[in-house]
Amino acid sequence: MAATGVQIQITDAEYKLLQTLVYQECGMYFDERRAHFLHDRLQRRLRVCGLESFYAYYRLLTSGHGKNELAALVENLTVNETSFFRNKPQLEFFQKQILEEVLRKKQERRDWSLRIWSAGCSTGQEPYTVAMQICDALAYYYLRNPLPFAMPTPKPLIPPPWKVEVLASDINYTVLRAAQEGIYPETQMDGVDYAFRLRYFDKVGDRYAVKKGLKELVHFDFHNLKTEFLPQRNDIIFCRNVMIYFDEAEQKRLIQKFHRCLNSEGYLFIGHAESLFGLTDRYRMIHQNNGTAYQRIEVTA
Ligand SMILES: C[S@@+](CC[C@H](N)C(=O)[O-])C[C@H]1O[C@@H](n2cnc3c(N)ncnc32)[C@H](O)[C@@H]1O
Repeated sequence: MAATGVQIQITDAEYKLLQTLVYQECGMYFDERRAHFLHDRLQRRLRVCGLESFYAYYRLLTSGHGKNELAALVENLTVNETSFFRNKPQLEFFQKQILEEVLRKKQERRDWSLRIWSAGCSTGQEPYTVAMQICDALAYYYLRNPLPFAMPTPKPLIPPPWKVEVLASDINYTVLRAAQEGIYPETQMDGVDYAFRLRYFDKVGDRYAVKKGLKELVHFDFHNLKTEFLPQRNDIIFCRNVMIYFDEAEQKRLIQKFHRCLNSEGYLFIGHAESLFGLTDRYRMIHQNNGTAYQRIEVTA
């Protein structure tokens, strides 16, 4: 049994084996700049498992009964930083330009379904933000273009006949559970102005709970972006601050997969520090008022 507190040395060969295993499992690539982080998390897991060497740990991870430990390791490696209304200019661009246009085009076609996917949703602030923006956009839209029939009372968040689904996924079960719970302390509510707090949250003690109606729009699920089986038929995908942890080859693969997961003329939103430049010619970049989106280009085989 390994003594607690004692650092076990990792050899170059062991590091390479574990680095490759993590990459193959979830796409996260730990180059020299992030080697220290990987090493630190491996040390912790080794200690929890009470093993004597990193090779023994590798053997455990690759064995038939190592699945749970591999999931635990991946959870320890993900960076889950997020916030409500993260990158406001981009979200304003999403709501005022992209969403307006998508809703208008859909209404013209009498297609009343809207499906948005938050891929790598962490503790839920991103999909709940998007859900709030959709509810507000639809309410505002029908203020200017009244429905041809009376709105039922009390007014539903999503006016019929619209059907809105926000799918939110992550590789980390712990953050998914927190997201599903949807209760946030004041310290995490900075980006949420009072109008949004009043409309979409209940105050429970000193915390804020997402209201039932909004919660019902968001469906949380486990999806590993490394796999091929990803949610299809999305109008818009948000995958922000996730690809930044992947290497270029994995980023290219993911962008191709998103191309298949998007409806015709669908949109992809990525993080502030991320770019599709040089990675693909299957999206057109749209940049307005400090907001950027990528629109899927149809490819004829
Ligand atoms: C920094 S957070 C970003 C959260 C949110 N998108 C935002 O921008 O605020 C990155 C999230 O991506 C998730 N992630 C990392 N690799 C993943 C993978 N292979 N499949 C699915 N989710 C992944 C992590 O668990 C983490 O919750």
